Amino acid sequence: MDLYIVTGHTKGLGRALVEQLGREPETELIALGRAPDGPIPGGAQLFVDLAAPRAVESACDRIEERMRGKRYGKAVLVNNAGVISPVGMLDRVDAAELERSLAVNFAAPILLMRRFLIAMATAAKVKRVINISSGAARRPYFGWGAYCAAKAGLDMISRVAALEAQAAMTGVQVVSLAPGVIDTPMQGVVRSASPEEFVDVERFRAMKAKGELRPPEEVAADILRLEKSGKLFAEPIADLRTLGE
Ligand SMILES: NC(=O)c1ccc[n+]([C@@H]2O[C@H](COP(=O)([O-])OP(=O)(O)OC[C@H]3O[C@@H](n4cnc5c(N)ncnc54)[C@H](OP(=O)(O)O)[C@@H]3O)[C@@H](O)[C@H]2O)c1
Repeated sequence: MDLYIVTGHTKGLGRALVEQLGREPETELIALGRAPDGPIPGGAQLFVDLAAPRAVESACDRIEERMRGKRYGKAVLVNNAGVISPVGMLDRVDAAELERSLAVNFAAPILLMRRFLIAMATAAKVKRVINISSGAARRPYFGWGAYCAAKAGLDMISRVAALEAQAAMTGVQVVSLAPGVIDTPMQGVVRSASPEEFVDVERFRAMKAKGELRPPEEVAADILRLEKSGKLFAEPIADLRTLGE
């Protein structure tokens, strides 16, 4: 039996990942998001607001409770949940929104990784972490300061975790993956910004108009195929657009 833990499954890329994983045999799925506790195809969803204090720790306690006594051939954590807000120059965005953004995009994935590595050290043979990053981790965008900084931080913790795994010979594989531009509700938020908040907004509106955004189902299928083949983990920093087949 393999275990997949996916955050942010209520819409967008996370939903597509969970729908596809839910159809796979011999796979236990745990989806973490702002949806009521309950069964879903392939497993269960657990309510968690990743911006809330200690939310990750109590979600991990609950996951470990479900895992008790089980052993997995493979365990995969997909840190997918993310927010683009607040959009705007740093001196114009709301402080509370900024804090929530950093909690969801940066602190929560790191805390989840930490607990995953501890729990899976003995519970799974193959251990893999996929952190969903962004091109915005690797170049600055006017108006996306919090998002760019958090994703850049996610890239760096992934590099550190991969380095530690190699040095300590834990066999853990880690990737921070930029998935390309996907047609999800997040892109709707991107396009709704004013040019004063986000100077590149017209370019993103034009991409949508020209049909250049990839459907989340396609992106999810690519990620899962490359995960299963192991090619996703060739380097700790990756871009789905250049990974090939
Ligand atoms: N779309 C793109 O073009 C693009 C490009 C590069 C990278 N990405 C990255 O890809 C990942 C998925 O993005 P997406 O486009 O699918 O975004 P999305 O459509 O906005 O979906 C984001 C998911 O994250 C969840 N989430 C947000 N805040 C949360 C919180 N406080 N607690 C729990 N869950 C929370 C959302 O749940 P709720 O329904 O509860 O809000 C939703 O399920 C993100 O990490 C994003 O940064 C996206």
